Amino acid sequence: MASEQTVEEITQNVQPPMIPPQRSHDPSNNMKRTDPFQFGSRYLEKGDDVFEFNAWDHVEPDDEFKAFAEGQYEKQRAAPVSDFDQRRFNMDPAKWWDLFYKNNTDNFFKDRKWLQQEFPILEQVTRKDAGKKVVLEVGAGAGNTAFPLIRNNENEELMLHACDYSKYAVKVMRESEQYNPKHMVADVWDVSAQPTEEKDSLPPGLAEGSVDVIVLIFIFSALSPVEWTHAISNLHRLLKPGGVILFRDYGRGDLAQVRMKKNRYLQENFYVRGDGTRVYFFDPEELSQIWSRWTPEGGIQVDLEKTEDSEAKSKGAFEVMHIGADRRLIVNRASKVKMYRCWLQGNFRKVEAPAAENGA
Ligand SMILES: C[S@@+](CC[C@H](N)C(=O)[O-])C[C@H]1O[C@@H](n2cnc3c(N)ncnc32)[C@H](O)[C@@H]1O
Repeated sequence: MASEQTVEEITQNVQPPMIPPQRSHDPSNNMKRTDPFQFGSRYLEKGDDVFEFNAWDHVEPDDEFKAFAEGQYEKQRAAPVSDFDQRRFNMDPAKWWDLFYKNNTDNFFKDRKWLQQEFPILEQVTRKDAGKKVVLEVGAGAGNTAFPLIRNNENEELMLHACDYSKYAVKVMRESEQYNPKHMVADVWDVSAQPTEEKDSLPPGLAEGSVDVIVLIFIFSALSPVEWTHAISNLHRLLKPGGVILFRDYGRGDLAQVRMKKNRYLQENFYVRGDGTRVYFFDPEELSQIWSRWTPEGGIQVDLEKTEDSEAKSKGAFEVMHIGADRRLIVNRASKVKMYRCWLQGNFRKVEAPAAENGA
């Protein structure tokens, strides 16, 4: 029975689904060797040796693994984080990220070199003739997205604001030899901040309606669901009408979720890691509803029972241009482990004139 296995055993034993062979007639396309930063073209086909490559694209978990995952979620719910620890981890999350960066400096996350391929708008704003463009990266960490972007930039008029609420992460970015103040400014900012009478909630140097593109790479998962609506409100205010949000984050069912142990469960799909940082795993439909139905007045309106509410969708302040699941099987050839990973990617555009404002 799947549920009786350990995570170590199931990742050794999984039998990933294989699709029928469909190799091309052109032998140069049959090698399955892809550009390491290009996703999406290495299919696991019948007859393939699963250990031939480190990763396979578009692999859905098999049924036995899905049953195992459900069993894991039951065990996680049965042994949640204590009330004392809930307060400890939710009260000052930036403190745990500070500790994280003190322990890991700038070498934990890999440079996100695939960004321009996955999000073509980043290629457009960094072109020589793109003109004045403002990009905001939220949760920029040690700069693993910001620095590759600046390295590839040819636009004299590009300004990238790289913000993080960990003071230590911002220090790492500012002290990096790649930090180029002509095109980049790193600042401390909490995306879930709420405006007060004394202080607005927007980042230093950025006015309402001034940003062309906002990059959210593995940041939303670090927020508690109660913080999402304030975060979206700030992002909405910052974007120009027609401005775009680029999103990539963890998907529900990712092995990182399935392997969560006892005393890590904060609430459904939301956990605290061993180092005190928090992580949420998104369902694609939930993610779509978060962004397509959010309004400044109504906030987030997620109802997973009700997926076909086109009226609510049309009134949202963002248009969901795309949401996709990047499901991959990652293989460790030495330990013979097969890991199902799942990340969600999305593009959301600020609606130019919401229907409500039109009086429509
Ligand atoms: C998983 S890391 C991702 C870092 C970076 N985007 C990358 O992909 O390499 C999440 C980052 O979000 C930051 N973060 C978490 N909550 C935040 C908040 N409320 N406001 C701003 N940054 C936040 C953390 O400090 C951390 O640097």
